[in-house]
Amino acid sequence: MPGHADALLTQLRRAVGECNVLTDPAAMEGFLADWTGRYRGQADAVVRPRTTEEVSRVVGECASVGARICVQGGNTGLVGGSVPPPRDDTGQPVIVLSTARMTDIDEVDAVGRCVGAQAGATVDAIDGRAADAGLAFPIDLASRESATAGGVVSTNAGGIRMIRRGNTRSQVLGIEAVLADGRILRRWTSLVKDNVGYDLPALLAGSEGTLAVITRVLFKLVVPPSAATVAVAAVEHVEDAIALIGAASSRGLTVEAAELMTEAGIELVHEHGQRRPTATPAPFYVLLEVSGVGDIETTMAELLDGTGGLVDAVLEPAPARALWGARESHTETIARSSTTPVVKLDISVPIRALPETFAELAAVGTTSDFPCRPILFGHVGDGNIHVNLLDVPEEHAGTVTDRVFGIVAANGGSISAEHGIGRAKTAWTHLGRSDVDLDTMRAVKAAFDPQGLLNPGVIFGLPAP
Ligand code: MLT
Ligand code: ZN
Repeated sequence: MPGHADALLTQLRRAVGECNVLTDPAAMEGFLADWTGRYRGQADAVVRPRTTEEVSRVVGECASVGARICVQGGNTGLVGGSVPPPRDDTGQPVIVLSTARMTDIDEVDAVGRCVGAQAGATVDAIDGRAADAGLAFPIDLASRESATAGGVVSTNAGGIRMIRRGNTRSQVLGIEAVLADGRILRRWTSLVKDNVGYDLPALLAGSEGTLAVITRVLFKLVVPPSAATVAVAAVEHVEDAIALIGAASSRGLTVEAAELMTEAGIELVHEHGQRRPTATPAPFYVLLEVSGVGDIETTMAELLDGTGGLVDAVLEPAPARALWGARESHTETIARSSTTPVVKLDISVPIRALPETFAELAAVGTTSDFPCRPILFGHVGDGNIHVNLLDVPEEHAGTVTDRVFGIVAANGGSISAEHGIGRAKTAWTHLGRSDVDLDTMRAVKAAFDPQGLLNPGVIFGLPAP
């Protein structure tokens, strides 16, 4: 490492303590690769601050020598946005700033229905704190035990409750973040109405660590439903699944979650120990969690009876963990079952275009010039499908991604519904944003981070070598 990097490490050790600056390759290993095995980077050190003030000192020291910072929470992201770049041609030091020690959660404000949490607190821990106060955290996703407050906000995570509660951005009341020069930006108020100028917390949500380091978040909490039930309908067509969701709303039920799976996905998770949701298989399975007043089981059973293309169905009171288990184990099972790192794409299309788009996407595996196993699943109520392509030879990953995104763009969809751009999709942002839009985003990045120190390469890509 160059001399100025040694000097930086000395300052970082002063800021966070000797044992919280990792430079040993074995100790750093887990911070340099993402869990999908697709993304791996290089760094000079992993720094683990405990407080916002320590983050401020770390960022300030990095800014003074032009060191680059990769911010990392639970490292559960799916687009390579939380690992450092694979190379750094600038010769400047690169550090991973891990929020793993920043796990404090404040007392719940039960009247204002909100809670403050440090960036490294997990979704599960925040939800647990909310539950102690009779409330619920409106954000939920399969990686809840590892995904962090900072991570879900910086990626504007969607997840399984989005259909009911909205995305993460809409759950943020306040934010504390460290700017690229080390100053602390604090918007911390439980006011639901506060229109003084730009909504900076909303801008930081979804900025994937490229504008500032989020250190604390003030989240909204919600009242959980008093009764909920979970149905899985095995159906012939995607249209049948969509019709069932609409019918549930029309009958006055509140749709808490609506997830689509295919027989290929169910067969795979069943081989890996999950219970099949229904006794009789079908091409598609829709998991619907609904709440409401009155006899919601009877209403739901009537709806299932009237569902077109119904092959089989099951109904259980929430939380119905085994039914959810079949859905939530998809990601890890898929990752373990592919001979190559999975090509993970995450798209959305207008609901009316979903059946046709789904069929076109599912055919990508059969129309490719190389063997490729597609497994599609996702948040059907949001028009969001996770397209997983297994066994894709590495040299064809870009080609198959082009094909999927071509289908999505032709159907008026988004190339990133909820996972973000990260390092994975920087080559395709033009499919979702105009030149003017991308220029404006670059101008915002330059205003927040003129030296380009925060998460270099994420969203915008690295400059050509
Ligand atoms: C999910 O919905 O389970 C996540 O977005 C993860 C994934 O897409 O694999
Ligand atoms: Zn998802």
